[in-house]
Amino acid sequence: MSSAKPMLEARHLVRSFGTGDTKTTVIHDVSLDLYGGEVTLMMGPSGSGKSTLLALLSGLLRPDSGDVFALGQRLGQMSESEQRRFRLRHCGFIFQGFNLFPSLTPREQLEMVLRWGEGTSQREAERRVEEALKQLGLEHRADLTADQLSGGEKQRVAIARALLKNPTFCFADEPTSSLDWHNGEQVVQLLWAAAHERGAAIFIVAHDARIVPYADRVYYLEDGRLAADGAASVRTHPK
Ligand SMILES: Nc1ncnc2c1ncn2[C@@H]1O[C@H](COP(=O)(O)OP(=O)(O)OP(=O)(O)O)[C@@H](O)[C@H]1O
Ligand SMILES: [Mg+2]
Repeated sequence: MSSAKPMLEARHLVRSFGTGDTKTTVIHDVSLDLYGGEVTLMMGPSGSGKSTLLALLSGLLRPDSGDVFALGQRLGQMSESEQRRFRLRHCGFIFQGFNLFPSLTPREQLEMVLRWGEGTSQREAERRVEEALKQLGLEHRADLTADQLSGGEKQRVAIARALLKNPTFCFADEPTSSLDWHNGEQVVQLLWAAAHERGAAIFIVAHDARIVPYADRVYYLEDGRLAADGAASVRTHPK
């Protein structure tokens, strides 16, 4: 079930790169909403602007014009450090290619988020990490270093790291693209559960149409514009 009011509202976003003759507009007047308890999927061809849009929605990149309101706050009015604090507190990120520290174990990668990000006590961090590892079926791999894990295992650690602090928002850029579908589906199921069991607003950028059944709303981006006037196809019974 989604809450009626969006947790994030993007209005008329425009973003270009370059200057003068080489200036290209990559995002043209995109407006959309993200809801708690829902998975929003953004599809579209390579180069259509999906990653740029994800960066705009999460405040990693500032728009040339337009606004993003997240939890009622206008991201554009925050200073860099306020935006950073907002992300630390409310956002989880999953980028393509895992972004794990190669020499740390899954246990260490996860504990670090709680100890450094949230100031959780050692004992409490250990308890929550143990629980997350169990949920992921990674207990037996918990003390290997990241470079000893398979791609699927690494991506599950990356997802766990993004979801561990129970973020309000989770932004995932091609979370399954380097995985076979068996592992990819597990990853999507974790994201689905974060939305449907914990009320998070999940934004997934992906090419893979097999994710569609797990999405509550599906948008298509073409040359920086939302297809069909931004109308998302809304699924009444996802998954
Ligand atoms: N920092 C940048 N400087 C200049 N151009 C950029 C920059 N970031 C993105 N672009 C351009 O913007 C366009 C959209 O890029 P973006 O990465 O958002 O696409 P995408 O839909 O995520 O593609 P893919 O599916 O391949 O990841 C591309 O033409 C890209 O070259
Ligand atoms: Mg991309």
